[in-house]
This record gives sequence, C-alpha cells and structure tokens, in this order.
Amino acid sequence: MRIEVTPNGPYSVSGSVPIRKQIIGTDERGQSVSWVEGEAYPARERYELCRCGHSRNKPFCDGTHATIGFTDG
Ligand code: FES
Repeated sequence: MRIEVTPNGPYSVSGSVPIRKQIIGTDERGQSVSWVEGEAYPARERYELCRCGHSRNKPFCDGTHATIGFTDG
C-alpha cells in the first residue's frame, strides 16, 4: 500500500486499499459521541482522494483543485 501527497493536488492511494464512509454519531442533544460505519466504496487498485475539499465527487478528486488554485504551501 502507498499513499502519496501530490503537490497542490489529491492523495494518490495505491495497493487496493479499502475505503469506507464514516459518519459522526450524535446523542439526543446533537453532541458528537462516536464514529458510525457507513457504506464501503467499491475496491479499486488506485484512488485519487480529494485534499482540497471542493470535489463534487467526494471522497474522490474530480480535478477541481486545479481550477480553484488549491495550494498546499
Ligand atoms: S484535490 Fe482534486 S478536487 Fe480536491
């Protein structure tokens, strides 16, 4: 398995790493109390995961980082 932080871009993940959604569980007052397992994404050999927060296809990168001028420096 390998995770590479690409310059001004996504995390490049290879090695068939399984990924799954996690949701913040809350109590009756709406306070965060735990992580709740969510859906698993279909397994792939390689993923590009969004690091800028602006992808319309989260958690995957859709290239938006390049059009908004995302920088990590
Ligand atoms: S890193 Fe590419 S869309 Fe966010």
